[in-house]
Amino acid sequence: RPIPGPPGRPFVGNLLDLPRGRMIRTMADLALRYGPMMQINVLGGDRYVASGLEMFDDLCDESRFAKFVARPQHVLGSALPTRGLFTSESGDPLWKSAHEVLLPAFSMRSIRGYTPLMIDIADQLMLKWERLNPGELVDVTADMTRLTLDTIALCGFGYRFNSFYRDSRHPFVEAMMVMLAEGQARLRLPDPVVKARRRALRRFDASVELMTTTVQGIIDERRGSDDPGDDLLGRMLAGVDKDGKRLPDRDIVSQCITFLIAGHETTSGLLAFAVHYLSRHPEVARRAQAEVDEVLGTDPTVPPTDAQLGRLTYISQILEETLRLWPTAPAFFRRPLEDTTVGGYEFTAGTPIMALSMALHRQKDIWGADAEEFDPEHFAAERRDGLPPNAFKPFGTGARACIGRQFALQEAVLVLAMVVQRFDLIGDPGYELDVRESITIKPQGLMITVRPRDGRT
Ligand code: HEM
Repeated sequence: RPIPGPPGRPFVGNLLDLPRGRMIRTMADLALRYGPMMQINVLGGDRYVASGLEMFDDLCDESRFAKFVARPQHVLGSALPTRGLFTSESGDPLWKSAHEVLLPAFSMRSIRGYTPLMIDIADQLMLKWERLNPGELVDVTADMTRLTLDTIALCGFGYRFNSFYRDSRHPFVEAMMVMLAEGQARLRLPDPVVKARRRALRRFDASVELMTTTVQGIIDERRGSDDPGDDLLGRMLAGVDKDGKRLPDRDIVSQCITFLIAGHETTSGLLAFAVHYLSRHPEVARRAQAEVDEVLGTDPTVPPTDAQLGRLTYISQILEETLRLWPTAPAFFRRPLEDTTVGGYEFTAGTPIMALSMALHRQKDIWGADAEEFDPEHFAAERRDGLPPNAFKPFGTGARACIGRQFALQEAVLVLAMVVQRFDLIGDPGYELDVRESITIKPQGLMITVRPRDGRT
């Protein structure tokens, strides 16, 4: 069966249909138009985009499909000393080893141990917003990026970027931004052009060097202390895999950088989109505030407990609904282990197939006629229980699904709850949601004002 898709032009195929900076959103629009499996052509190469439930049911079958390491991940991984969890091939023995060593660090129990550190950083955001003059604007995405980066660095390695106390970015963060931007730029450039851009290459290499030496410094310092600690770094230094082997230092460096990138880019987008929706849906914000007042109380000087966070079901619904419409890692890639079919279409072994969760999450046959609307009721308990198993995939799938899922959700619930406990969020009525696409998606130009609730701050 031929796979439907938009008609292409000679040589460039559909390249011009996918404008720079809007590729993912355009792909999602095209997928909803052309169907649950779509074929597009870019510069002579065929790409396959899956967005229907039947396709996801196949692609999530671990006995027939595995992760495909796509180009942006490849660029990122090949710059690191070793590939790191996120960008390794599934058969890589270092992935298996690191996965086994790190899994306990992401258990519910371990993540609860990070709560006081998460509150430490969240308090810095609260203080910043409390000290604003009436009407002063908040750059939500920038502040949420400061927050999530500082949180993963503190919980992961006991390191403080102190992003709320700086006017400019920490040199490590600057280097990380250069690395990510270069990874994205290379997506649209043929290899000879990439190699000819000497200045960009030098900047990229210098950034990677700065990141690896900074992290190696943190590792050396920890090694020199008596207590390895039970954060991510402590577990990587002390932990062993199932064969009793420790992780080599250069792999620990790669994993640390991986966590800093994977651990902040996505969660900051989630929190920023959620704040946007709360500023636009007063009825949802009021219900969130009522839940938080009931569960956490109305005194913001009393820090939330883990037990209370577990009872914030409506806050969780808001976050899930946000991830449905804007899964901040909007797609992942799979490849068939052998020749097989996906939703009835035939594919040969190894063919990369994009699982576009952003389009899956907007299918009317799963989510109803209001699939494009923000409504946390899409995740009300009775509707959630009735969802097909592969209908909601913001964290990927199978053995290569997000290891930081619980970490991200705990952090996001905590921060959103602390925000609505203290503030009313007032959006700019003239603002149309705009999205910046890079390795993840985030709101762009989102400026709001925050008003302390009846003398609570
Ligand atoms: C993998 C999404 C937060 C660390 C993934 C994947 C997705 C994802 C879709 C699979 C990628 C693929 O198949 O290619 C998200 C979202 C997050 C989030 C939406 C927040 C809302 C985090 C956090 C951490 C983290 C907080 C670390 C603390 C990782 C790692 C992997 C991964 C290490 C690779 C796992 C492996 O292949 O073994 N994430 N993530 N993520 N994520 Fe997350």
